[in-house]
Amino acid sequence: MTEENKTTGADALQARRDRITVRVLCPDDVQTYKAVRIHALKNSPLTFGSSFAVESAYADEVFAHRIRHGGGNAVYGAFDGDTLLGTAGVFVHERLSEKHRGTLWGVYVMPQARGLGLGSVLVDHVIKYAEKHVVVLDAKVVASNDYARQIYYDLGFEKYGLEKKSFCVEGQFQDQELIFIDFSSPEWRSRKN
Ligand SMILES: CC(C)(COP(=O)(O)OP(=O)(O)OC[C@H]1O[C@@H](n2cnc3c(N)ncnc32)[C@H](O)[C@@H]1OP(=O)(O)O)[C@@H](O)C(=O)NCCC(=O)NCCS
Repeated sequence: MTEENKTTGADALQARRDRITVRVLCPDDVQTYKAVRIHALKNSPLTFGSSFAVESAYADEVFAHRIRHGGGNAVYGAFDGDTLLGTAGVFVHERLSEKHRGTLWGVYVMPQARGLGLGSVLVDHVIKYAEKHVVVLDAKVVASNDYARQIYYDLGFEKYGLEKKSFCVEGQFQDQELIFIDFSSPEWRSRKN
């Protein structure tokens, strides 16, 4: 590849990135969100605990409830114009004794938009939002999912355990790493300085 081709390629990549905006999903996004979620479950069945068969039968209200915003719950979306390219969400636990905990969920980037940094940007938005609402943000990640693991550990998640045979999809058991950020910890504070 010539230097000129490399520069043109890098410029095109940057131009794609520059077009992308990230914002919290709102009720009007429900159909777009549903389409991406269903796509995620169909295309990446081994990375999610839920399944295409189950969620494609859900009513729209279920998806609307998922993207409700407020009280520490939010789903961020990355858009190119009106096209939703990826999502990452957080929900706050409801039990009184667990209201200080949020869980990162639904991290997905459409195949055509991967490698642009959207996964990292979306999870970073969730972390910054969660930090204002909870003390601990936790998540699970399939132990063999290197791209997702890289994002989480680069952004400050720590591993605290391994859930063996966490779920079973298409006859395959998946171990999941249990990860978390303690926003009150000296480690997290020093990371930010
Ligand atoms: C995991 C996933 C969200 C990553 O999204 P993404 O937008 O492509 O990720 P990013 O562009 O932010 O890349 C994150 C890192 O992984 C690397 N990476 C991502 N995709 C890559 C690929 N296809 N080839 C090589 N490296 C890749 C990037 O280089 C980057 O590393 P860097 O920061 O050192 O450059 C996406 O692949 C996906 O949706 N996968 C299926 C669903 C899934 O696994 N979700 C997570 C459930 S826990």
